[in-house]
Amino acid sequence: MDMRNHDLKEDIREYWSKRSATFDLAFGHRIPPGPELEAWAAAVRDAIGPEPKRVLELACGTGEVTNVLLSLGHEVTALDFSEAMLGVARTKHAGNTRVRFVLADAERTMEPDEAYDAVICRHLVWTLTEPEQALADWIRVLKPGGRLLVFDGDWTQPTRMGRLAGLAVRLIERLIGHDPYYDGAMSEKHADIMRRLPFSDGLTAERLEPLVREAGFVNIAFPSHRSIAMAQRKDADLRNRLRTLFYRRFVLVASRPVDVAS
Ligand SMILES: C[S@@+](CC[C@H](N)C(=O)[O-])C[C@H]1O[C@@H](n2cnc3c(N)ncnc32)[C@H](O)[C@@H]1O
Repeated sequence: MDMRNHDLKEDIREYWSKRSATFDLAFGHRIPPGPELEAWAAAVRDAIGPEPKRVLELACGTGEVTNVLLSLGHEVTALDFSEAMLGVARTKHAGNTRVRFVLADAERTMEPDEAYDAVICRHLVWTLTEPEQALADWIRVLKPGGRLLVFDGDWTQPTRMGRLAGLAVRLIERLIGHDPYYDGAMSEKHADIMRRLPFSDGLTAERLEPLVREAGFVNIAFPSHRSIAMAQRKDADLRNRLRTLFYRRFVLVASRPVDVAS
C-alpha cells in the first residue's frame, strides 16, 4: 500500500477498527453487570449527579460505557470515528431510543454549542493527536456549568507493583499459554502509534490538569479510581487481578464555568 498520505489519525482508526471484533474479550474493556457495572455507575453518578442528563460520550468504542450511561437513565450521544467499533455498539444497543450513535472525530465533534450537560470518555485522551483542540471543542459543546469526566491512565510505564505483576503474569502465561486478546494484541502497531502521540511518554493526571485548566475548565478534581479497580478484581482470575495493578489509572472531573461568555 502507498502510505504517503496515511496520517497518524488514520493509523489510529485502522488499529481500533481491526480490534473491534475482539475488543470486548480483552480484560478491562467489557463492563460486566454486577459489582463492576455498579462501580462505574457510581463514579459517573458522583461526577455528574443522579438525574438523567444529556451526555456526549466520546470514543464509545463497543458501547460498554454507553451501557453504564444508559443504565443511569441518561440521554446519550455516543461518538466514535471507527465505523467498525460503532457497528458493535449499535448492535449491542439496538432498539434503545435513548442513544444516538455518531461517526465523528472526538477532536472536532461538529456537535452544537452548549448542547450537553456532560462530556464523558474512557481511554480516549491518551490517544488524542491534538489534545488542546479536543479540550477546546469539549468545553464548547458543554452547557455552562456542564461537566467533563475523563477515565484514563498511563499505559506506557507500569508502576513498580505493575512490573512485579507483569513478571507474575509472564510466569502464568508460560504455564497456561498467551492470551491473544489482551492489549498486547497487535502490539507492534500499537507501539508505532504510541511513539507518534503527544502523550507518547504516558498520560498522567499531572500532565492533563494544566491542559484542562488552559482550556477554561474549573473545579478540576481527581476522584479515586480504586473502587473500580477493586470491583474489577472481584470476579477476575489471578492473571486478570494482576493486570489491574499494571498501570496508574485516574479519573478527572472538571466543569465549564457557569458565567462563561459564549
Ligand atoms: C481504547 S478504545 C476505548 C473505547 C471505549 N471508550 C471504552 O472504554 O470501552 C479507544 C476508542 O477511541 C476511538 N478513537 C480514538 N481516537 C478517536 C478520535 N479522534 N475520534 C473518535 N474516536 C476515536 C477508537 O476508535 C476506539 O473506539
